[in-house]
Amino acid sequence: MSKIIIKTEEQIEGIRQSCQLAGKCLQMLESYVKEGVSTGRIDMLISEYIRDHHAKAATLGYNGYPKSSCISVNDVVCHGIPAADVILRDGDILNIDITTILNGYFGDTSRMYSIGTVTAEAQRLIAATKHCLELGIREVYPGNRFGNIGFVINRYARSQNYTVVYEYCGHGVGLQFHEDPQVDHVARRDSGELMKPGMVFTIEPMINAGKSGTKLDKSDGWTARTKDGKLSAQYEHTVLVTSDGVDVLSDVEGEWT
Ligand code: MF3
Ligand code: CO
Ligand code: CO
Repeated sequence: MSKIIIKTEEQIEGIRQSCQLAGKCLQMLESYVKEGVSTGRIDMLISEYIRDHHAKAATLGYNGYPKSSCISVNDVVCHGIPAADVILRDGDILNIDITTILNGYFGDTSRMYSIGTVTAEAQRLIAATKHCLELGIREVYPGNRFGNIGFVINRYARSQNYTVVYEYCGHGVGLQFHEDPQVDHVARRDSGELMKPGMVFTIEPMINAGKSGTKLDKSDGWTARTKDGKLSAQYEHTVLVTSDGVDVLSDVEGEWT
């Protein structure tokens, strides 16, 4: 039996507000994410911004997670813990992932940033990862199956000689941080449950330049890195299934309007 929550209009508007706040926080950070800045400092800015907008950071204290964001640099796939001694350097690429709780509603989004001059290969990985998210979003409409999101993402990533991380997934979101369903970024065509209007979930592909395997940092229990040490990139949006397609609730750039 499906446990995917169908959100009410009121809940959807609440989730939209939370998603927009998280997205605007990512926008605000653009001028601060520069060479010489620590990820710990960026997390402090995120923490202040969220508090100033009467919201909470969902990650803070979540299963013991210690910070208000995840900041994943270069070979870090996801769940990088911001720290004062992680200083951004010329050529670094990073993902910042923010989940806000505003009036009880969760909004989850992440994007990539580049520091100074990054290699053409890193730029190509970032562009391909963004395209993977876009292809996934285009599969969101009532009557389609969740598996088609992972099918198109994996097909495109492989065509670009990249691999898709299968150990971390998208998820239902809105009333809680992680709800049903699990949204796989590698899946078989036409597998999984049917999408219905009112479902809200994330799509958040992590794409690797090398092999897909990850390893968890034993010292902090959170940081996931590529096993082979090569680069990884990620983009994430929270999306709503509408009566005739998709509404990208965390889009603050007007890319989906
Ligand atoms: N925001 C992440 C996601 O997209 C989850 C981070 S959980 C944490 O699902 F505990 F690592 F912060
Ligand atoms: Co998420
Ligand atoms: Co996230």
